[in-house]
Amino acid sequence: MKGTKWDTKHWVIHNAVDKTVENLVKHPHIQEAAQWINRDELVAFPTETVYGLGANALSNQASMKIFEAKGRPSDNPLIVHIAHLEQLDGVVDNIPPLAEKLMKTCWPGPLTLVLAKGRNVCQTVTADLSTVAVRMPDHPVALALILASGKPLAAPSANRSGKPSPTSAEHVLHDLNGRISGVLDGGMTGVGVESTVVDVTEEIPMILRPGGVTKEQLEQIVGEVRVDPALQAEGLDVREKPRSPGVKYQHYAPEGDMWLVGLEQGLEWMQQKIRQLVREDRLKGYRVGVLTTDEGMSGYEADTVLSVGKREDLSTVTQRIYHVLREFDQQGTQRIYAETFPIEGLGAAVMNRLHKAAGGKVIRFNSDLISEK
Ligand code: TXA
Ligand code: MG
Repeated sequence: MKGTKWDTKHWVIHNAVDKTVENLVKHPHIQEAAQWINRDELVAFPTETVYGLGANALSNQASMKIFEAKGRPSDNPLIVHIAHLEQLDGVVDNIPPLAEKLMKTCWPGPLTLVLAKGRNVCQTVTADLSTVAVRMPDHPVALALILASGKPLAAPSANRSGKPSPTSAEHVLHDLNGRISGVLDGGMTGVGVESTVVDVTEEIPMILRPGGVTKEQLEQIVGEVRVDPALQAEGLDVREKPRSPGVKYQHYAPEGDMWLVGLEQGLEWMQQKIRQLVREDRLKGYRVGVLTTDEGMSGYEADTVLSVGKREDLSTVTQRIYHVLREFDQQGTQRIYAETFPIEGLGAAVMNRLHKAAGGKVIRFNSDLISEK
């Protein structure tokens, strides 16, 4: 029954004693979930990045349901998830040596490769493009589900389109309860932001979406790596058309209005500026939130002050960022001011998500955006 509030199964799997893939494949919950996949139904599952909304990638009918459940624009292609390299047969057409090198080094892990599309992938998954995005997730539940169903799984993040990606089964149920057959609950995800999407169809790989594997790490493996110019322009004046269809849509947005405050004048200026903006807005009667780090928590007086982790350890920030964006909604926050981070290492993924959540609104030194607000 579509649209009802009681028909999504919640299979708790994170308390399974033996979490090896080999054992999980036989687990009754995974077996049941795999049966749903083979009936062309949707099952959400944890990966090391965020929860994915899985369907048989070889079935048009199943893949179409993903777009319906998420409210996703049909021109935004999906990532195909595999558990072993043989599953690439028929999914991709050709694996250049450079792509093979990346697979060997980074899989299973948070890296998605865009390759020439194979004969078996349905066109709904690739949104009619001639390429397909593939990855091998590093999570035993994800791998077990793929193996138990025997199918490569098309899986976008398991959120309603435009909302922050889910890092827990509760997030998935909040967005999709009654719209999907079930969710395998593997607890909170580890990386917390999505995989890095890299186009390897040309000689020099190009990052289309920053994520869990950093540009610096990729360079160590393959040498020169380019970044989609549309991403480099982020936060400035975005005119370029992004090469990854999904990148152009508003994403990760909390209900409240959100602004980033620039770091160019230093940490102190940024924090002072946020304090000033919070004061002004509270006087106007808004419920105001601040997104900060552990180090900055005590420096703000706002209605909701939330930390995304340690400024010096960005892996704690990626892990918490979507949870924090959702928490502002829970608290009914109307205006959010967010601290920002240098665009290095995982900072590139963090800033990409923050930019999108804020709809590109950045307050800088001498910024006229302040008066527009
Ligand atoms: O970590 C992740 O990647 C998560 C987990 C569930 O695996 N998945 C995820 O999927 O983030 P999704 O659908 O939310 O984002 C997929 C991104 C979109 O920006 C999409 O446009 C891009 O990958 N993409 C997919 N196929 C593509 C293709 N053939 N060419 C260029 N970009 C593609
Ligand atoms: Mg997504």
